[in-house]
Amino acid sequence: MINNFTRLLIVFWCVGVSANENKIAIASAHSLATQAGFEVIEQGGNVYDAAVAVAAALAVVEPAGSGLGGGGFFLLHRARDAKQVMLDAREKAPLAAHRDMYLDGQGLWLKQKSQQGALAAGIPGLPAALVHLSEVYGQLPLSVSLKPAIRHARAGFKIGARHQRLIVYRLPAILNNPATARMLLDNGETPKAGAVLKQPELANTLSLLAEKGRAGFYAGVVAEKMLESVKQGGGIWRQADLDQYQVIERQPVQGEYRGIKISSAALPSSGGIVLQQSLNILAAYPLPEMGKIERMHMISEAMRRAYHDRAMYLGDADFVEVPVEQLLSLDYAAGLRRSIRPDRALPSAYLAGELQNDAKGRNTTHFSIIDQQGNRVSATLSINSPFGAAFLAEGTGVLLNNEMDDFSSKVGTMNSYGLVGGVANAIEPGKRMLSSMTPTFLESDRHIAVLGTPGGSRIISMLLLAVLDFAGGGDPNAWVQVPRFHHQFIPDRIQFEKGGLTVEEQSALAAKGHQLKEVRYRYGNMQAVQLDKQTLQLKAASDPRGEGAALVR
Ligand code: GLY
Repeated sequence: MINNFTRLLIVFWCVGVSANENKIAIASAHSLATQAGFEVIEQGGNVYDAAVAVAAALAVVEPAGSGLGGGGFFLLHRARDAKQVMLDAREKAPLAAHRDMYLDGQGLWLKQKSQQGALAAGIPGLPAALVHLSEVYGQLPLSVSLKPAIRHARAGFKIGARHQRLIVYRLPAILNNPATARMLLDNGETPKAGAVLKQPELANTLSLLAEKGRAGFYAGVVAEKMLESVKQGGGIWRQADLDQYQVIERQPVQGEYRGIKISSAALPSSGGIVLQQSLNILAAYPLPEMGKIERMHMISEAMRRAYHDRAMYLGDADFVEVPVEQLLSLDYAAGLRRSIRPDRALPSAYLAGELQNDAKGRNTTHFSIIDQQGNRVSATLSINSPFGAAFLAEGTGVLLNNEMDDFSSKVGTMNSYGLVGGVANAIEPGKRMLSSMTPTFLESDRHIAVLGTPGGSRIISMLLLAVLDFAGGGDPNAWVQVPRFHHQFIPDRIQFEKGGLTVEEQSALAAKGHQLKEVRYRYGNMQAVQLDKQTLQLKAASDPRGEGAALVR
């Protein structure tokens, strides 16, 4: 059956609008990455080529957030056949990994080993994803789509205040690895904003990827150097890990909220499931008619329950059985809803689990792309903590991730986001660690939206608030500005952005039994674009909390 949008596109083509006039919206965390996307579009690329260019450029100009040494998820929609798919480029545990690899003889968690240095690194997925995206969905060779990234790596770029702040945040870990310190510091000191960072070795690695495809990274000289460096650093990677790494095409999580179709990240990301479960719980409440406090209470209670199920049930479904269908069922949501009281918070201690630490999350990156035909990419990419494991594979320019910390190193113990993990997310050789990355598409009768954000465990709650704003008629500019709050079951409190609640509002929530914590900074870095299906107008917005760039051309 032909829908209105398809009909409109036919009209669009019949009136003689050529492919060259197909406008595109791109929002990313860095202006050079957004420009890289447009640069390859101008050379005849499509949105998938643009995605390759943006992802590779971010790996160079935002090395704190993502990189060739990391992974992520690309949600794709191809308008011509309505194909929708999630490219799973999540890192994998090395084959020599084992459940207790971060515990000492007494069973105590050796936290630092899962968070910095070579042992913290999973097998990277981003290089394989760039190759797959280009070969299967793109129109241009990697030699064209990687060109802007190679240029920025070789010529250098000016670092911003955010990059500088994140260096300060990770300084002790950076100083622990001389190669990383040489790359990121200026004679051992934190560089000033405006200083130029050149990465000639990373330019060489990207050039090999462009020339040889996956063999340019997972084999040959780059692989040899990475394996040697990891070995010297106490890590456990082998060539077999690199040989066996594969990107997987998965079905996104699909759901609905008040007439809006939602497509989001599937396992091994918890994002789509936790987002949809929260929305299923909230669907029965008249949120737009509620006052701020009542609304915050209900949303927090929904988050509490969905994040609880994350900790209890979610892990890599290629390794463990996850009751996805049940978690996403409306009956299950109705059952959870029955435990929500409008006047009272349910203490998390009444649900299974242990009280843990605080959520953080200044890491990761996101970009969103859409064209007027409705082709689109929503990609959230990560090396986990800022600058990953702070471990540079010598001679390659590749900073390795510390995503192994996203496994439950010790069941019931928090990771660096304060997220508690269950057995479903325990370490196993070759397994993908559970993620919170939530690249998402929304579609209403009128609009298609593409959005996502970095932010560790808070990613999903940021998406939830943005979806609710979309449902209320907001546009990309509004979603990226929504004041944020978060509840992740454990710790049992609502976290809210600096200045987000007055003293009276805090008292009103406390009277319902909520504990509250004001986060010292404003968090997240949402990148969002939207297509109006009737007018074909495009909009793009970049979070004011970051230094990104959103453009329509
Ligand atoms: N490393 C952050 C996440 O995947 O959720």
